[in-house]
This record gives sequence, structure tokens and C-alpha cells, in this order.
Amino acid sequence: MWGGRFSEKPDAVLEAINASIDFDRRFYAQDIRGSKVHIAMLAATGIVAREDAAAIFKGLNQVLAEIEEGRFTFSRALEDIHLNVENRLTEIVGPAAGRLHTARSRNDQVATDFRMFVRDALDGLDRSLHGLQQALVSRAAPNAGTVMPGFTHLQSAQPVTFGHHLLAYVEMIGRDRGRLADARRRLNECPLGAAALAGTSFPIDREMTARGLGFDRPTANSIDSVSDRDFVLETLSFAAICAGHLSRFAEEIVLWSTPQFNFIRLSDRFSTGSSIMPQKRNPDAAELVRGKTGRVIGALVALLTVMKGLPLAYSKDMQEDKEGLFDALDTLDLNIAATTGMVLDMTVNARTMANAAGAGYATATDLADWLVRVLGLPFREAHHVTGRIVAVAAEKKLPLERLALADMQAVEPRITEAVSEVLGVRRSVASRTSYGGAAPANVKAQAVRWRKRLAKEAQAFD
Ligand code: ARG
Repeated sequence: MWGGRFSEKPDAVLEAINASIDFDRRFYAQDIRGSKVHIAMLAATGIVAREDAAAIFKGLNQVLAEIEEGRFTFSRALEDIHLNVENRLTEIVGPAAGRLHTARSRNDQVATDFRMFVRDALDGLDRSLHGLQQALVSRAAPNAGTVMPGFTHLQSAQPVTFGHHLLAYVEMIGRDRGRLADARRRLNECPLGAAALAGTSFPIDREMTARGLGFDRPTANSIDSVSDRDFVLETLSFAAICAGHLSRFAEEIVLWSTPQFNFIRLSDRFSTGSSIMPQKRNPDAAELVRGKTGRVIGALVALLTVMKGLPLAYSKDMQEDKEGLFDALDTLDLNIAATTGMVLDMTVNARTMANAAGAGYATATDLADWLVRVLGLPFREAHHVTGRIVAVAAEKKLPLERLALADMQAVEPRITEAVSEVLGVRRSVASRTSYGGAAPANVKAQAVRWRKRLAKEAQAFD
């Protein structure tokens, strides 16, 4: 394509390091769509004759069909998807194909293609995340009153409910989808027409191109258009944060499914056995959701590193933006699917959870609150009194609700029989009625709110 300036062929090693066709062929459809809209614009503005434009348009359709039917031969010597498509187009159409690249460079072409690819990928991921939220809500609603231990420092803290815990992830994923939507909104400007970096002297219509490719508007600065990859970085940031959320949940699934916790049981469909230990049911899918998160975070760090020292405008370093993005989004998509599958399939051991909820003096805060409410102690003093009562109970190896009233009164004489009401886990959870709290009635209402919102979004999808 640039033979005019050169007399020697490229070294084989140059070809090996330079070629991106092995991975950028993934956005062939976006590349061809971009070319079709570009040639239509060139014809509409009179820059290219209608007959040539029509032949090119037809030729592009043929190239598309050849790729989709697996009849296309990709060539490394032709470097990337842009040159592979254009070369084949020239074979089909003849020299007139050369008019397609008027007022365009691969620099604005690749930026446009990649934005379209990322946009499509984000739309797919948004649906997958919506599906995961639906799965979580479907398990949260019937477990709005299923008492389980809440932890801080992974030590028993206060009783919560399983539904409440699941809805915490629905909120997180809701914010992930918000970040996704933000990234999508900002990336949806069309770089095509920026050409190499300075724009073009041809009277192109960038509004027309932008509209034809589903962008909100053309980008405003030609240098910026071909220089930045912050749309990829934002996408990877969203992906890394989201993968991190799924990883935390995966870690909990791993813990909960141990015989020691036994809060849930993963179905056979999501468990693996051991070749030596016949008793084993391993949560491999959860472990891999956790483990694969490293790749997603790695892709973000890698591209941040690639970009941070590049002078404007285009440098070939930026070709390194693709493989990490592909891998990160494929990985995230798989992690979402695996998480959704496990959520829908797992069995909840409500009794084990409820028993565990009372362990570790998890209602001590309820006792302290009672001392404040009924005896009028300042909270700090109530905390101290409760601490002493817990120490007595621990010494006698008794849970709080089985400690004799006299033992409590030895610490604080004004405590009465009525205190026993607040020492059970069920009462404890039911009392957490503050907005956003763990009370089953609250959780039920939140599950309904999410169910409605997700149903409305599902309608907008179709
Ligand atoms: N394959 C290249 C990339 O992905 C396309 C842009 C090449 N531009 C250039 N001036 N060599 O970045």
C-alpha cells in the first residue's frame, strides 16, 4: 500500500511484530460498515463519482460475505484488517477501489472501528449483567427473611439475611452498569474524518458519517481523535471493577460451600470432583471467576502503561490496545455467565445459616442498644457493660440468650427479664428497620423495587 517510497521488502521479523490481523480481524464487520458509510458520504458530497461508490459498496458487501462464509484468506503481509479488506476490495472492484481511502487514514479508521466494537461489546455485557441482577433478585426475594451471620473482619458481627446479602451485589452491579453506560456515552463520538491527524482538505460531511455509524456526533479535535484510547481505558476500568465485585462474591461462594460453613450447596452442574479424594465437591467455577479477575485487572494496567508516555498523535504502540480488551471482555462475559449459573443453581441451607447467625455473640449490639433505649445509658457506657456481660458468657461458654439474668445483673443491676426479647437473632434482624437495613420487610421491599426496575429495563431491551 506504500510501495512507492520503498525498494526492499519488509523483514520477516518486522512482519511478525507489526501484523495485527490475527486479532483485529475480530472487528471486520465494524471495519466494513465504516467503509460503507464513508463511501456513501464521499458520493453524497461529490468527492467520489456515484458509479465508483456503487461498485465499492457492492464490493464491500462481497468481502463481508466472503469473511462470514469463511472463504476469505487473511494475510499477515497485509498487516491488519483494514489493509486485508481493502486489498480484496481492489481485486474485486479494480483500481476504482483506491478511491475508498480518500479523506481517510488508518488512524481514524481504526479508532472508529474499535469504538464501534467496544460499543457493541458493552451493550452485550449490559444485558448479561442485567441477567445476573435478575438471577440474584430471584434468589433474594424468597430469602428476604433467611437469617444469616453478617461479618466484619470475617468475624461474626450482626445477623443479617441472605436476601439482604444478595441484594448488596445487585446494588454493586447496578453501579457497574452505570459505569458501563457512562463509558458508552463518552465513547460515542465518531473519529472518522480526522484522517491521519490534521483533518482533510476534502469537503467531507462528518455529521453524516457520524450519524450513519450510530454515533451521537463527530469528535471535535482531529489530533485527539486519533491519539487517545481513554474509551478503552474507561471500558477496562469498568470491567476491572465489575470483575472485582464478581470475584468477591466468588470468594464467598467458595467459603460458603465448604463443609465448615455449609451455607450453600452448589449443584452437580457447578461442582467438580477430585481424582483422589472421593468425598470432594470443589467449587472450580467460583475459583476461576475469582482467579480470572487477574487478567481483567492486568489488561487495564497494561494499557495504562502503554498509553502514559505517548506523544500525540498516533503511535503504533496503540495497536496494543486490542488483545487485552478482547481478553478482558471475553473473560468478564464468561465470569458473569458462570456467576449467574451458580446463583440460579445453588441450594440455600437456611438452618445452618440461622444457627451460625447466633454464634460469636452476634446480638451483643442489640443488648447494648437495649441498655441505651430502656435504661438510658450513653452508648459508650452500654458498650462497656455489654462487653463485660459477653466476657462472663464466654467464660461460662454460654450464648447470651442462655446466660442467667442474675449474671447480667451482677454487671448492671437495672437489667430486667425484658432484655431476653432482644437477644435472639430473628428479633435482632427484624429490628434493623432503618432505610437500607437488614429487616426482612425492608429486604422484601428492595427486592420488589429491583424486580420492577429490571422488568422495565428488559422491555427496553426488546
Ligand atoms: N493496525 C493499526 C492499529 O491497530 C491500524 C492503524 C495503523 N496506522 C498507521 N499509521 N500505521 O493501530
